[in-house]
Amino acid sequence: MGKFIVLLGPPGAGKGTQAERIAEELSIPHVSSGDLFRENLGNETELGKKAKGFMDSGKLVPDEITISMVAERLSRTDCKDGALLDGFPRTPFQAQELDAILKKNGNVICCVPYIMVSDQDLLERLTGRWTCKAAGHIYHQTFNPPKDSGICDIDGSALYQRDDDKKETIEKRLAVFHEQTAPLIEYYREKDLLVEVDGTQPIEKVTEAILKSVQSKK
Ligand code: AP5
Ligand code: MG
Repeated sequence: MGKFIVLLGPPGAGKGTQAERIAEELSIPHVSSGDLFRENLGNETELGKKAKGFMDSGKLVPDEITISMVAERLSRTDCKDGALLDGFPRTPFQAQELDAILKKNGNVICCVPYIMVSDQDLLERLTGRWTCKAAGHIYHQTFNPPKDSGICDIDGSALYQRDDDKKETIEKRLAVFHEQTAPLIEYYREKDLLVEVDGTQPIEKVTEAILKSVQSKK
């Protein structure tokens, strides 16, 4: 059976930062719905055009677009032995759909680390975030600065600030998290998959805690 892990947490909790590290450590692909949408935006696909307005206003992209996009990604051969999901599912309906998608191949979710950070800290993290154009590597102007300002340490590409990292949009995204995504905390706790992780620790400590939580649910 494959190793499917869902990283849960509010916008800015560090899902992308941690996913990069955990996916490498566990040799499973990082599947981020937000990154898939941003790739489509960059390539100006039909899907990207449909998603843009929702993303720019901090709302969820409708389920019929989101679920089929993630299902297609999970159907590729690199996900046959597992995947680290980041940003999906985001509603109880998406969670049920994910269970159904995995079940088709006899798979289930093995662990749901929930990265906890207060709204006040999240605002500071998101307004100071810089993301690399080429591959989405993540930096913070104070907490995790690149060696050369404006340039990705890993691939040398330019860093940019995401369109949805403006204060008003961040506030909307946080409200959407509390209303629509927070019910997943209880959903996964009831299934005995949830492990709470203190997301205010330094990046390496959070990685250690997530890896420990995955071990604990083996
Ligand atoms: P998405 O891209 O998923 O964004 P998000 O959930 O809002 O989360 P972020 O990517 O903003 O934060 P993160 O947790 O990855 O934090 P990061 O590691 O970057 O979604 C964007 C949009 O797409 C949505 O609003 C929606 O429109 C749409 N969408 C996506 N999925 C969808 C779905 N399933 N259904 C419907 N619509 C969907 O870290 C943040 C900052 O903090 C960085 O600067 C980082 O360097 C810093 N940092 C990280 N860890 C630490 C630490 N331990 N200490 C100090 N600083 C830290
Ligand atoms: Mg992210």
